[in-house]
Amino acid sequence: MAKKEVLRLENVSFSYAGKKEKAVDGTSLVFREGEFAGIIGAVGSGKSTLLYCCNGLVPKEIRGKFAGTVRLFGKDVAKIGFPEISREASMVFQDPNDQIFNLTVEEEVAFGLLNRGMAREEALAAARKAVARVGLSEKLHDDPSELSAGQKQKVAIACALAADSKIILLDEPVSSLDWRSSQEVYAILSGLAHEGKTVIATEQDTCLLSRHATRIIVIDGGKVVKDGGVEVLSSSLIEKLGLRPPGPMSCGARK
Ligand SMILES: Nc1ncnc2c1ncn2[C@@H]1O[C@H](COP(=O)(O)OP(=O)(O)OP(=O)(O)O)[C@@H](O)[C@H]1O
Ligand SMILES: [Mg+2]
Repeated sequence: MAKKEVLRLENVSFSYAGKKEKAVDGTSLVFREGEFAGIIGAVGSGKSTLLYCCNGLVPKEIRGKFAGTVRLFGKDVAKIGFPEISREASMVFQDPNDQIFNLTVEEEVAFGLLNRGMAREEALAAARKAVARVGLSEKLHDDPSELSAGQKQKVAIACALAADSKIILLDEPVSSLDWRSSQEVYAILSGLAHEGKTVIATEQDTCLLSRHATRIIVIDGGKVVKDGGVEVLSSSLIEKLGLRPPGPMSCGARK
């Protein structure tokens, strides 16, 4: 039986204000529970913009010409507000500095829950649990702005975990991380997908995707040009688009 549908894009197009070209061009996609989807494509192909469409950032916050429908658990994202959207879908941005502004890791991770009106003790307990999950318990009372890039990215993921949203959207989450931290982050994401969350990540690193993703969506010029399993990463299309295929030397065995 097919897994439950969580997110649906129906013929979505978007061009940034003042631009004629479409950054997202007629995209229709359905995402299901437990999927780990990697979105890959060349620089400027529209990966981030597509991700921003998934939680309504486009066009609610990022202005331009939008067409189509995005449905989150069946609800039209255009008709619901961010508080409701963020309960279902959390976004982890490419640069974790963009979303870190509290004085301790614990406060940072509890922040969204407190904003939702959760009681302080309950929010802090949920934050501690999420921080433990990403392996940062010893940093609980540290200033998050003083952590390493990898640790900051784990804090951003802990925020998404604490929110307990069913969908986690990540924009090139390991682009500023070393290989070990990147693998740690992907192992955490993979574990979440196994638990039934839907993970959707834009990514340049085909190696990490070949190990952890369950689905690969390739985009070019704002259009989905391929949608399949990890075998897509080894197709000639990948090199044709200027992307590096996962080589056995640099990737190692799939876990
Ligand atoms: N804020 C913006 N204003 C105008 N045009 C934009 C803006 N952000 C992106 N674009 C344009 O939209 C298209 C898609 O950009 P997008 O950032 O989604 O691509 P990407 O695949 O994420 O690229 P990268 O690999 O560099 O992250 C590009 O042509 C880009 O120039
Ligand atoms: Mg991008």
